[in-house]
Amino acid sequence: MIGVGVIGYGYWGPNLVRNFSQLDDVQLVGVADKRAEILERVGGKYPHLKLTSDYEELLNNPKIDALAIATPVSTHYPIAKDVLSKGKHVLVEKPLTVSSQEAWELVRLSEKNKRVLMVDHTFIYTSAVQKIKDLLLSGELGDIYYLDSVRVNLGLFQHDINVLWDLAPHDISIMDYLFDKLPEEVNAVGISHIGNALENTAHLHFYYPSGETAHVHVSWLAPVKIRLMLIGGSKKMVVYNDLEPSEKIKVYDKGITLIKDEKNLHKALVDYRIGDMYSPHLEPTEALHRVCSHFVSCILRGETPITDGEAGARVVKILEACKRSISNQGERVKL
Ligand SMILES: NC(=O)c1ccc[n+]([C@@H]2O[C@H](COP(=O)([O-])OP(=O)(O)OC[C@H]3O[C@@H](n4cnc5c(N)ncnc54)[C@H](O)[C@@H]3O)[C@@H](O)[C@H]2O)c1
Repeated sequence: MIGVGVIGYGYWGPNLVRNFSQLDDVQLVGVADKRAEILERVGGKYPHLKLTSDYEELLNNPKIDALAIATPVSTHYPIAKDVLSKGKHVLVEKPLTVSSQEAWELVRLSEKNKRVLMVDHTFIYTSAVQKIKDLLLSGELGDIYYLDSVRVNLGLFQHDINVLWDLAPHDISIMDYLFDKLPEEVNAVGISHIGNALENTAHLHFYYPSGETAHVHVSWLAPVKIRLMLIGGSKKMVVYNDLEPSEKIKVYDKGITLIKDEKNLHKALVDYRIGDMYSPHLEPTEALHRVCSHFVSCILRGETPITDGEAGARVVKILEACKRSISNQGERVKL
């Protein structure tokens, strides 16, 4: 049994508490949140839990082996550092930290203290993203050409982070997982339509050394909710619509082949291939359930999580490069 505590019970924390409370090898011990009215709500639902406004109490509780952090992004680093320094394992919400320097410090601390540091890059644990990874690894899609993602809605304007740090970690973590390498360069533009310093809309472009590209559009100012990703491969292409209740993924046997005209070398003829489309079956398991159970299994077996601290640090490094590009009117930034 692993004793678990959760720090932060705002919007996302209750989902972590619910999922940890459903795992067989977990004893959920306590919840910390700064706000007293929040703790009353937790107590009504989970009367056996230790509730505190000071997370230090959870750090000092010998029944707790691991803590999950679902507090605002700027607090992730100091809290995670405290948790790892106390010799406890930690699951941190995305994005891991606000700077890659902080992220790498946490990675080193987790290695030194031999404790699991995992980041909740939730989408990596969805059946849809797992399926796309399988399609890539099996060679069914061929060489990956591009990834194009739109993640927009009339979203909650955050007070401490812009849309880049709020929504783009999802797309960048998926990109990092599927491409399995860092982009060479990024350029990004972003805008705040309400006159403050926090951009509510951003377009991010990523350039990979072997020619692949990715584009991500994130916004809190769209009239409709769109969660759509296109992945183009040399053999097949995928459309991933996360809002579809079933058939989230469609695999299209479509593409082009260039035929060289030997007489007219400057002319390349394009041959279009239009074949069948299929939608693979996806297990409906909640991704966060997989996140929590993977975290616990890594602790019990001494394994490295798929979304370990290094994955978290890579995502933060890419976010930092995008931020620098936005500040410099979209100039290309090398990673
Ligand atoms: N994985 C996902 O899909 C997903 C979705 C939403 C949010 N998140 C992440 O979860 C984190 C929290 O986001 P949210 O939307 O739930 O925020 P929120 O503001 O709704 O909740 C944060 C809670 O943390 C508490 N808190 C702040 N500082 C604290 C401290 N020092 N000790 C104890 N409690 C403290 C606040 O009182 C609040 O209740 C963020 O990192 C966010 O990016 C992840």
